[in-house]
Amino acid sequence: MGDDPLLSVSSLEVSYGPIAALRGIGLEVNGGEIVALLGSNGAGKTTTLLSIAGVLPVRAGEIRFDDARISGQAVERIARSGIALVPEGRHVFEGLTVAENLRMGAASLPGREVEGERTKVFDLFSVLADRRSQLAGTLSGGEQQMLAIGRALMSRPRLLLLDEPSLGLAPRIVEEIFELIVHLRDQGTTILLVEQNARMALEVADRGYVMAQGRIAAEGAARELAASDEVARAYLGVA
Ligand SMILES: Nc1ncnc2c1ncn2[C@@H]1O[C@H](COP(=O)(O)OP(=O)(O)OP(=O)(O)O)[C@@H](O)[C@H]1O
Ligand SMILES: [Mg+2]
Repeated sequence: MGDDPLLSVSSLEVSYGPIAALRGIGLEVNGGEIVALLGSNGAGKTTTLLSIAGVLPVRAGEIRFDDARISGQAVERIARSGIALVPEGRHVFEGLTVAENLRMGAASLPGREVEGERTKVFDLFSVLADRRSQLAGTLSGGEQQMLAIGRALMSRPRLLLLDEPSLGLAPRIVEEIFELIVHLRDQGTTILLVEQNARMALEVADRGYVMAQGRIAAEGAARELAASDEVARAYLGVA
């Protein structure tokens, strides 16, 4: 371990059939960091997270987590090694209660540890505790996003992959989500954060990568990326 990054992606190539989506990307996430992954629509951000989680097959290159090669491993095994994905669009089980949704995130935990883990999630999100017996489909968008994050936390991940957690939410709720991300990092969870809201993502992140057309176009300390006019104009959709 030592100074090695927690997650290391090198020369990663991923395709959808004949369409190349990732054209040899490299990135690293150190333990304890929030790393922002930015870029315009279709740049390859979601594809990167899905590849790390093992949902998409890797065509070339390597993904290492905690000094072990995880590219090529099954989704369940990658999850058990400590990586949890909160997918774009939340995808809670609408016909299950809040408590049942959280239970679904704990498949890798011994049964006797589920209740304790769920109590921790309820301590973190009082709004979920109040609605524990309510069907997830009746929650607001912000509450569903919190439930999706809570469900991912049930597996006690060391690395949390968040895909557009603020998408479509009211500004006040977006603030809450970003505060939560910082809190989770401060509690020891490492975070790779995909965001369209580049400005806010760079405010909470330690470092960032900007993707364009399946490649890494820029990288650096979050503060430097945020201050770069060139990055802002070319990749972040700022006038
Ligand atoms: N299921 C799929 N089949 C074919 N091509 C796909 C599929 N999913 C994504 N792509 C293509 O792969 C490229 C990368 O898509 P990806 O979803 O990773 O981008 P993104 O950066 O997450 O974009 P967005 O900001 O819109 O979420 C795009 O050109 C996209 O059209
Ligand atoms: Mg996406």
